Amino acid sequence: MTASPLKLRLTLAERARAGFVSTLRKQIFDGLASSLRADYQRNVASRLAPRVDAESVRQAMRHRDSFKFYSSLRVTSQDLLYQVVRPAIERQRADFATAVRDLASDPRAPATLVLKEGFKVPRSVSALDIHLMPGSYVEEYGEDDPTMGAVYENRLALSTFGVFGPELDDIGQSIARFIALKYPKFRPRRILDLGCTAGHNTAAWRQVFGKAEVIGIDVAAPCLRYAAARAAARGLELRFEQMNAESLDYPDASFDLVISSMFLHEVPPRAIPRVLREAHRVLRPGGLMLHMELPPADQLSAYDSFYLDWDGHYNNEPYYRSFRAMNLPKLCESAGFSAADYVQHVVPSWTALGARRWREAACEADYAVDSGQTGRLASGVRWFCFGGWKSFASGKTR
Ligand SMILES: C[S@@+](CC[C@H](N)C(=O)[O-])C[C@H]1O[C@@H](n2cnc3c(N)ncnc32)[C@H](O)[C@@H]1O
Repeated sequence: MTASPLKLRLTLAERARAGFVSTLRKQIFDGLASSLRADYQRNVASRLAPRVDAESVRQAMRHRDSFKFYSSLRVTSQDLLYQVVRPAIERQRADFATAVRDLASDPRAPATLVLKEGFKVPRSVSALDIHLMPGSYVEEYGEDDPTMGAVYENRLALSTFGVFGPELDDIGQSIARFIALKYPKFRPRRILDLGCTAGHNTAAWRQVFGKAEVIGIDVAAPCLRYAAARAAARGLELRFEQMNAESLDYPDASFDLVISSMFLHEVPPRAIPRVLREAHRVLRPGGLMLHMELPPADQLSAYDSFYLDWDGHYNNEPYYRSFRAMNLPKLCESAGFSAADYVQHVVPSWTALGARRWREAACEADYAVDSGQTGRLASGVRWFCFGGWKSFASGKTR
């Protein structure tokens, strides 16, 4: 899962529990999810009015045994994720903090960490336990403490039951390779990753675009400490800075590529336009902004929207549904990107297919967004991403 010195040392009993939770998650997201869909198609769909939406599907499904069983197992499995990883992390907390201190005091360390004294974390991150994660991303248990980064990584490994790959970077690997394949003339020299958390996907962009300088920013100090120590343990040259994506410290036109993954749906709707305007500002003309996200409601069937919205109702994800309700081309336009320069792609999973099959799949015509696999945690997932090219005053290169 992780390279030393951050590797979590589980007891035999904890390993057994971890295996159980991971298998349970796979059963829920692959098997039970299919049964839920089958129940809807067989017993509910025909009863709903022709103008059905995600909320009417939820109202029709929420008292059915299939939905109650699925939901109670999902909530329980979410709690179990933390119960399984927390004791081992607490035992190793001092070692993790030492790894962070070693990084800070080693001038030859490949990764760099920049935290800011008195930094103000937005309440949207600090005021609730996002996806039921006790402590959210920001709880600190002492000096140099990276606990919440460790919790995020180790719980992600269990919760995604192999779909994110051994380095938990399938989103970054798949989308970075796709961009390199699709736009071969586009060779970004400076890349900025917004809301990078523990830096899994930040690292993938560094690997694919080997010559680029890659910087990850986040508001959460414990996650950034962990990200930097994790990158250093892998010999990856990455820079992590504490910063709010709503007001970046970088000058205008200082990046070729601004990316994010699974970030915008955790940002309040009033702040999203500010984040996109900042992305536009720091991009050079000819540069690209690209966000991997949940597919929007207006591009999915009512059933698939209902399925994805589950987290917004039951998993402490307060901005999930408001994000999914946004019109993405309009959002990019309001941030300064021209309508003609809007891009969106549905990208096959590198981990699921392996190098040869992935290349074949990625070279095919774009997948439809509404495929039942887009943005859905399950075996065979495909990643949705959207954004825009920043125009030159005259024309573009790509
Ligand atoms: C779901 S996580 C992102 C996961 C990560 N990008 C990955 O690929 O593994 C959301 C992250 O966004 C960060 N965040 C939330 N609001 C932010 C803001 N305004 N500026 C920067 N980071 C923010 C949180 O601290 C959290 O680490």
